[in-house]
Amino acid sequence: MYRTHDCGALRMEHVGQDVTLCGWMQTSRDFGGMTFIDLRDRYGITQLVFNSEENAELAEQAQKLGREYVIRIEGKVRERSNKNPNRPTGNIEIEVSKLEVLNASKTPPFTIEDETDGGEDIRMKYRYLDLRRPQVQNNIIFRSNLAIETRKYLAGQKFVEVETPFLIKSTPEGARDFVVPSRMNQGQFYALPQSPQTFKQILMVAGMDRYFQIVKCFRDEDLRADRQPEFTQIDCEMAFVTQEDILNTFEGLTKYLFKTVKGIDLPDFPRMSYDEAMKRYGSDKPDLRFDMEFTELNKLAKGHDFPVFDNAELVVGICATGQADQFSNKDIKKLTEWMQRPQIGAKGLVYVKMESGGIKSSVGKFYSDEQLQGWADKMGAKEGDLLLILCGESEKTRKQLNELRLEMGRRMGLMKEGDFKPLWVVDFPLLEWDEDSERFHAMHHPFTSPKKEDVDRMLSGDHETMKSLRADAYDLVLNGSEIGGGSIRIHDRALQSRNFDLLGFTKEEAEAQFGFLMGAFEYGAPPHGGIAFGFDRLCAVMNGQSSIRDFIAFPKNNQGRDMMIDAPSPIDSTQLNELSIELKDKK
Ligand code: AMO
Repeated sequence: MYRTHDCGALRMEHVGQDVTLCGWMQTSRDFGGMTFIDLRDRYGITQLVFNSEENAELAEQAQKLGREYVIRIEGKVRERSNKNPNRPTGNIEIEVSKLEVLNASKTPPFTIEDETDGGEDIRMKYRYLDLRRPQVQNNIIFRSNLAIETRKYLAGQKFVEVETPFLIKSTPEGARDFVVPSRMNQGQFYALPQSPQTFKQILMVAGMDRYFQIVKCFRDEDLRADRQPEFTQIDCEMAFVTQEDILNTFEGLTKYLFKTVKGIDLPDFPRMSYDEAMKRYGSDKPDLRFDMEFTELNKLAKGHDFPVFDNAELVVGICATGQADQFSNKDIKKLTEWMQRPQIGAKGLVYVKMESGGIKSSVGKFYSDEQLQGWADKMGAKEGDLLLILCGESEKTRKQLNELRLEMGRRMGLMKEGDFKPLWVVDFPLLEWDEDSERFHAMHHPFTSPKKEDVDRMLSGDHETMKSLRADAYDLVLNGSEIGGGSIRIHDRALQSRNFDLLGFTKEEAEAQFGFLMGAFEYGAPPHGGIAFGFDRLCAVMNGQSSIRDFIAFPKNNQGRDMMIDAPSPIDSTQLNELSIELKDKK
């Protein structure tokens, strides 16, 4: 037997017992004839003691151990005189009688503790060392628990876990595909799935009734903290359901996961239409941990000879409670410059400070104090508050003000750790008009059904009508992060075909890409719908973090590279020849 206990197991009740432990040497300290070693494994850290007066040879052996050496020790558990209340094993230590080095280690390039001195790149390259850090290890264990509980809940609801293929034909979910050349079909390519969307719908046609899969998806898109080129979904589909059934089932899953994995009871999730979310927060994924809702000021602000507002489609603002004296004119100037960066693109920022000595505003020349007080009243502002106002074209201005609202929320410390605010956003538009390509895009994906009451308008309406169609599509938002999205699907060939027309597919293109799905719809497709949760995002948000990388055992960096195995990498000419691929010379 390698060990009798792990490094997190021993307590006062074990005092006097002979034990054998294995693990990694984290730190070593020498104090007048005593050597103390912290021995670490997945379960915790146990202090070892070597006494040079009692066993000089053993103590000398211990002093020679380097960081991250793998050792096995035998010894007796004893009460510590100097207890460590921050450690579960902090009341005891092991008086070591035998030491065996199982493996030596080079000195690691960074310290393997929660607070590490290693930069991101070096930690990615030595991911196996980073994963030894308790914090990162706990994230991966959290993820494992979440997956296990997800399976339990869905199995309890009669969902069947079905694996779908990774070598497929592209599904248009909005991103670029990763493609894989086929050796046996030269000049042809598989695509890695952006999601198992069409397969799960086919499984409904096949009568599986309830499907789920915790599945890798692949999208070749620009990377951000909450995006990876390969990520995982809890992917689900149900037959004979309405939107209401799906929202209830997956609200149930989310509540169950919070309860079992975090011990948190979530209240019923509020719902908000897409239009309302955009009007009140300028975002389809509002962070509801704080209010700071938008107030539209068109009626009060226009018509007073301030041309910037008079010429704007929308004048809209937020009230930052108690911030009037927190922002000097210099701070406001900096905030304005922050808003004017190309990423946000605001033209300017108007402020009104409700100071105790009176109202101060960047537009004080154009409006009387009574008029500005009128704005403040409409925004529910009191003395001490700061009003921040933007204007311009409606959609753009709302998006800009959303950025400002989030920034103010961050600065004011309103996104509280441990606070979880879920929200269903419903009634998304079916189609989105893209000015650049002069085409409609599917707001969710091309398989999403219009609302029942919009079907006739979709089949016969004109261009403008198409912009107003609403879909049975919904997102689950948690603390401002899009955790999941789904829809009721089209299950009728004619309607699916009309949708492809609207999206600019020719009949031939639609047939070539999706003939199999439309064909399946002709053999008794049941009404169906589903949802997919971003599993990595759910892990991160449940732990109050914005980056999903630390919840993925082997993530890619911002350039899409795996730093540990050094991928992607060139392949040799034999492989290229087999695939009939000729590389263009790099200029
Ligand atoms: P959607 O494209 O909205 O829907 O994806 C579902 C959820 O997956 C997560 N997600 C990502 N997570 C990490 N990295 C990425 N690059 C990434 N892209 C998406 C998000 C998102 O909400 N087939 C449909 C689902 C359906 O209709 O049932 C789909 O994939 O959390």
